[in-house]
Amino acid sequence: MSEYRSGTGWDTHRTAKGRPLIIGGVRIESDFGLEGHSDADVLSHAITDALLGAAAQGDIGMHFPDTDPKWKNADSLQMLHHAVQVVHLAGYQLASVDATVILERPKLAAYRAPIREKLSETLGIPKELVSVKFKTAEGLGPVGEGKSAEAQAVATIQRRPGYNR
Ligand code: C5P
Ligand code: MG
Repeated sequence: MSEYRSGTGWDTHRTAKGRPLIIGGVRIESDFGLEGHSDADVLSHAITDALLGAAAQGDIGMHFPDTDPKWKNADSLQMLHHAVQVVHLAGYQLASVDATVILERPKLAAYRAPIREKLSETLGIPKELVSVKFKTAEGLGPVGEGKSAEAQAVATIQRRPGYNR
C-alpha cells in the first residue's frame, strides 16, 4: 500500500434566485444561490469526491444517493465528515486539501478565512493544511455568464501509522 495517495474532485451547480449561497459550509451574502438536492455546497461536494477518490471508495453519488431521503437537504459538511471517516476506515488520514471555486460573482476572498476554518474543523486537520482559492471564468461559458458555479479539489491522504490490515 502506498504511503501517500491523492484524489481529485469536481462539482458544478446552477445558480438560482431564492436559494442560499453556501460555500465550504459558510453562508455567503448574495442575491442568488445554488440549486440542488442538498444545500448545493459545490466546494464541499468537490472536496468530498477528492477524499473518496484518494481512498478509491467510489464517489459522492454512491455514498449519498439523491434518492435517499436521509440526505435530502443534508448539510454537505455532514457528507464531508462521512468521507473523512471512510478515509480513516481505509487506513489513511488526511494530509492536505487544495481547492478552487470558480464563480463570477460575488467576490469570495473575504470569506477565505471562515471557509478554511469551517473546513478544517470538519476535516479534523489544521487550517494550514486546507487551501481554498477563488477564480472568475472571465465572462466565458456558463460560469462566466453567471448561470453556474464550479469547484475543483485535490486531497492527499497518508497511511495511518501502525495501521495493519
Ligand atoms: O478570476 P480572476 O483571476 O480575475 O480572479 C482574481 C482574484 O479575485 C482571485 O485570485 C481571487 O482572489 C479573487 N476572486 C474572488 N471571488 C471570486 C473570484 C475571484 O475573491 N468569485
Ligand atoms: Mg454538488
